[in-house]
This record gives sequence, C-alpha cells and structure tokens, in this order.
Amino acid sequence: MTSVGTDVDRVDGPEKTTGRARYSADRVLPDMAYAHVVLSTIGKGRIRAMNTDAAAGAPGVLRVYTPFQPLKLYPPPPGYGETYAVLQDRDIRFRGQVIGLVVARTFEQAREAAALVTTEYDAQQPSTSLAAGSPGVTAPDQGQGAPPAKFAVLAPGVTSIDQALAASEVTVQGTYTQGSQHHVAMEPHATVAVWQDGHLTAYCGAQMPQVHAVSLAAQLGVEADRVRVLSPYVGGAFGSRVATWPDIALASAAALDLDRPVKLVLAREQVFTMVGHRPAVSQTVRLGASADGVLNAVSHKSDVAMPMPTVGSWVMVPAQDTSGALYKTPNLAIDQRVVPLDMPPTWAMRGPNEAPGGFAIETAMDELAVSLRMDPLRLRLRNYATTAAGTGRPWSSKHLRECYETGAERFGWSSRPRSGTVDGQWLVGTGMATAIYPAARFPAAVRVRFRDDGTAVVASATADIGTGAVTLLSICGSDALGIPLSRVEPRLGDSALPPGAPAVGSAGAGSTAPVIRSAAQAAITALIDLAVTHPDSPFYGMTADQVRYHDGYLDAGAGRSMGFARLLKLTGTAGVEATANGGPGPEAGQYAFHSFGAHFCEVRGNRFTGEPRVSRFTTVVDIGTVVNAQATRSQIVGSVIFGIGHALLEVDPLEDSGRLAAGNLGDYLVPVNADIPDIDVHWLDIPDTVYSPFGARGVGELATVGSAAAIGNAIHDATGIRVRDLPITLDKLLG
Ligand code: MOS
Repeated sequence: MTSVGTDVDRVDGPEKTTGRARYSADRVLPDMAYAHVVLSTIGKGRIRAMNTDAAAGAPGVLRVYTPFQPLKLYPPPPGYGETYAVLQDRDIRFRGQVIGLVVARTFEQAREAAALVTTEYDAQQPSTSLAAGSPGVTAPDQGQGAPPAKFAVLAPGVTSIDQALAASEVTVQGTYTQGSQHHVAMEPHATVAVWQDGHLTAYCGAQMPQVHAVSLAAQLGVEADRVRVLSPYVGGAFGSRVATWPDIALASAAALDLDRPVKLVLAREQVFTMVGHRPAVSQTVRLGASADGVLNAVSHKSDVAMPMPTVGSWVMVPAQDTSGALYKTPNLAIDQRVVPLDMPPTWAMRGPNEAPGGFAIETAMDELAVSLRMDPLRLRLRNYATTAAGTGRPWSSKHLRECYETGAERFGWSSRPRSGTVDGQWLVGTGMATAIYPAARFPAAVRVRFRDDGTAVVASATADIGTGAVTLLSICGSDALGIPLSRVEPRLGDSALPPGAPAVGSAGAGSTAPVIRSAAQAAITALIDLAVTHPDSPFYGMTADQVRYHDGYLDAGAGRSMGFARLLKLTGTAGVEATANGGPGPEAGQYAFHSFGAHFCEVRGNRFTGEPRVSRFTTVVDIGTVVNAQATRSQIVGSVIFGIGHALLEVDPLEDSGRLAAGNLGDYLVPVNADIPDIDVHWLDIPDTVYSPFGARGVGELATVGSAAAIGNAIHDATGIRVRDLPITLDKLLG
C-alpha cells in the first residue's frame, strides 16, 4: 500500500503546531549579540556624513558599522542577488538600502541605537515613473535555453503582427497595469551566524541551501566549503528567499568581526525594501480573430519596472509562458521590455512571470469573448492548442480540456446566473480563466540510507518553504522502500546534504520525487550486495539475483526472509546507503512542459458601495501525478488566495520620492479569512511520464495564474465595468 496520492498529514506538523520547530530566529546561542540595520531615507543620492556617536554610546552597543567604518563585503555572484555590496560605498541607490548595522547585547538595545544614527545626504531626484519610462528597452536574455524576450512567429506571407491584426475580422486591445507587490512571508527574514575554527554556520531561510552557501561565501570572500547554511524550517518564501540578501552576509561578517554569534532579524517594514518584490508592470495585449472566434493574431507587450543595474534584480518576462504558449494562433508576437528606475531590488514572486502575464492574456480573451458575444469557455476551446505557440513543440502531457470540462461541471457553468443578476444589494456575475505554468525539471541528488534500527533516511539539500517538501521525502521514501511513513526520516534544508533541487519554479517535488526512487533502488542494490558478501549474513554466498527486496525485507524464498535492520545488526553494519543523481534528459529539448488548470468563479459587487467579494471558486488542475493530496489541495487553495489578493487588494505604489508608500503590513493589504469563500479544488492525477518516470510535475504556483483574471472577468460580468488596473478596488466600481 503506497501513500502516494493520498491525504498525508505533514510529518513536521506536530513540531510546527506545538512551537517546537526552531526557525532561524528561534536559535539562541551562548554569548549571542543582536544586530539591527539602518536604512536610507532618500530615494537616490550620496551620503555626505553620518553621526554614530549617540548610537555607539548607547547602552549595550558593541559596534556600529557604516560606509565610514564598514564590514568588508563583496557582491554575490551574478544572478544570486544584488550587484553591489552594502556598506562599501556612500551611494544611495534606493530608499530602504542598508547604510548601517548596529550590534548590541540585546535586540532592544540594537534597535534603539539604530534609531539614534543620523545621516546627511546629497539627495538627487529619483526616477520612479514606469509610465514616463515606457516603452522601455528589450529585457535582457534569460539564458538557459529560454526564448528571446522579443520574438514573433508569423504565418507565411504575413510581414508583421500589425498586418495580421489589421486583417482580422474582430480585434480587441487592452492595457493592463498593476503596481508593486510583496511576498510578505509570515516569517520575517532572519539570520543567526556563528563561526567556529574558521567555519561559518548560518541559520537562515533558503530556497536553495547550497546556492545560499556558495553565494554567502562569495559575499564574505571565503571558500565555499567554509560556509554551511541550515534552513530546516522556513516560514514562507514565495521567491523572497532565492537570492542571498545583504542581511545574511551582514550578520555573518559581524559575527566574524566580533568573534561571537550574531542574530539579525529584519523588522517587517525592512523586509519590504530588502528582500526583493514583484515590480509594477504594464502589459498591452492585442487579439485578432474571425467572427466565429478563431484566433488569427496574438500580440503581448510588457513594460516592467526594474531597478538600475547598480542594484540588480530578477527580470520579469510575463508573456513568454502565457501568451507565448497558451492558444493556437498562426501569428504571435511577444515583446517584453524593462524600464530601469531608482527603486528597491525586485525578485521573482510566486508565479513571477505568469501571474501578471496570465491576468493580461486571460482578461483580453474575456474581452474578445464579450465582443464576439461568445461563451468565454467556448472561445478557449475553439482555440485549444496541441503544440506550444512560441516553440511549436508538442506538450509532454496536456489535459487542459478535461480541466475545463470538469471545472465547468463542478461549478455549474452552463446554469450560471445571467450577467448582472441582481440579488438584493448585490450584482452577481461569473468568470473563468485558464492557468498555465512552466514545468521545469532541475538536477537533484538524493541519498537513501538503511539504518540498523529499521528506519531509513531520505536526504537531499532541497528546502521546505512551507509547501510540504519534507513530507514528500517521507512519502516517496516510504513508497520506494515499501516501509511505513513512520520509519522514514526525511532530511533537507542543510547545504551539507547531497545537492538537491532548488525550491523554486514549483519544481522541487517534480525534480526530487523520481530521484528518491532511483536512490532507493541504489540503496537496495547496496543492501543486497552486503547480504550476499558478508560472512555473517544468512544470504552469504548467494548471487545478488537470488535475493529479492520487498517491504523492508530481504527474501531468498523458501522461508529465508529477514528485515534489513536484522541483517545490518547481524553483520555489524550501522547503515547502508547510496546516492543517486537525476535530471532532465534529451526530452527537455523536444517537448513543451507546462501544467494547466481552469478557474471558474462567482463574484458579488455591492450596488451601493462598489465592494467586490468573491463568493465561489472552482479550480481544476492537470499537474501529473499527485504526491500528497492534502498538500496539493493546500497549495491550490493558497494560490487562489494569492489570486484574490492580486485581483482585489495588493499594491504598493512607488512614490515620486522613491518611497514604497505601503511598505508595511498596516498599509499593504493581503486577504484574510473573511475575504475567502469556499474554494473547490480538483485535480486530474494523470502521470506525465515524459516529464519524469515518476510523472509528477509539481503544483505550487500554477493556480496563481489566471485566478485574478477569472475574478476580474466575473466582476465585469456582474457590473459591466472592465477594470484593467489592479487591484480592483471599490472606488473603481463606483463609476
Ligand atoms: Mo518561486 S517565485 O519560483 O521562488
């Protein structure tokens, strides 16, 4: 009996719910000091002077670091975070940049002293307007086989996308905008750094512990094997714990300088400028179709706000895996641009390209359906693709049609209320949209070890950022070894373990699960080898193929069977282990890999206040094999909630001064329980054995894509108002 695909409680649930799980900031070490950062209060310019006398003389203060008395730090390797090292110069690149670090005996003393630091600036006017800077410049090449930021696929004889649009019987055009958004992980970013004998141990949240260790070592100017990152529990990440932000390096360098452990926990409002965020983006989609709804042209342009090269960031390309793949069209043009501004660093945020991109294309498709007077679901089915539009490749596995059909049935799409149905003080409407998310597969290594107490360890340096990855190690280990979940010890979140898949791109599960199976097979082979070669083994002298492993037992038939613990004890062996590596093969260059889904929702718009409320939601996804039903449901529900925040609540405007106006949890609105209806979730559970022999593509971010569009489309259906600027707040519905 396997537990793959069933509801499995999190194996770390009891630790987390009883408070025994120790997150980074929960580490308390002897003689530990506390650090607090000082941030710039102008948007651009240069520091003329800093007065640290009051801070240095404040109670408990051990040291005050500034650009005038710096800790030596280096930039992280390219692509791992910002392009500069903090405290090494007096330039102010954005408001909320680190300009000082105060270390004291207690947290309160450090924070108090940090507030006493005064700074004089030579200020300049920052450039902060996405609209003024648009159109921007073509986004930099994404590398790793990614399509170019700008490309077109045109039918024979067609010379431009404009020509294709002009030749279409029906066209729609929409410009869709949204402001900055933040990951706001529940656990603020925190580091505890301790050095021993020239080796650093850093407890910090990391989506890829080994990459964090390498990057941190580079920032400190030491060899990578002197740095170990421990990240067993992470209170959310959503992309904000991919890069190594300056807080980790600062705490580590201060701990070295002061020769004692240092803890640095960012205040919530510091998280808003220090760990990346999703930048503002403006997207224009143009669609051309025949009068009966067959697409002839899809054009998707984007202008994304981006920090200056002197800050560094991850680059959003919202069209490539949305409009660039989703629908069958003879003419396709993608044009993704960036607008450099004086703003805090940005980074990937859950569904980083696809959530914004999906809002644009899926709203535009709804606008086309409205102008054609066609059921929006029928329009999607009419333009169903069997090869990805941009690359022309067939999909490894695609069952989007079943998602549409199953979702429509569960939701009751065919008997939905008429547009603008009045129910007391509410206008009722429904909407739908498609979800699509690329299914990457990363190289991963996994170690499986049989131990003489009858348990087995499944270890890989991946991360559980709240998704249930540690439980996945248990489930897949239990499945591959045929032993109960309780006899598997999962280990992750440690850079010293075999190099695991990064917990990014919703690809941790898909990349790790098949390799657990390989590692288990390799460990079984090693166990059988021990059984037939060790003189104290009852299987001694047999050939390996005479001994079979099943369900924790070695079995040579005729009643000669023995549990692995007993074999290990008899032979005086503490453990037998094997490590396996796995990753994408030649199929990676032959197919398109995506997961798919369909969203259906009902909203109610208040006729008098304009208040929009989501009242029903159904999401059906095609993600390949499902590993843990409970975790899958949670991921999809969480992603739809992200979509509700995206559609209705979340925005942090960048002011002319360079200040993020809502950079705190008082002003930055995220959904709460009262905003969330029952969310009906369903999955197809059809293995994608082209993606991997295990067949699981992963689920994390998929349902963030299209969910905001489904809500906006339903609001239009309810009210007749098309809001193209997110979030859809009540003021925009009062007109
Ligand atoms: Mo995620 S935005 O791929 O860390």
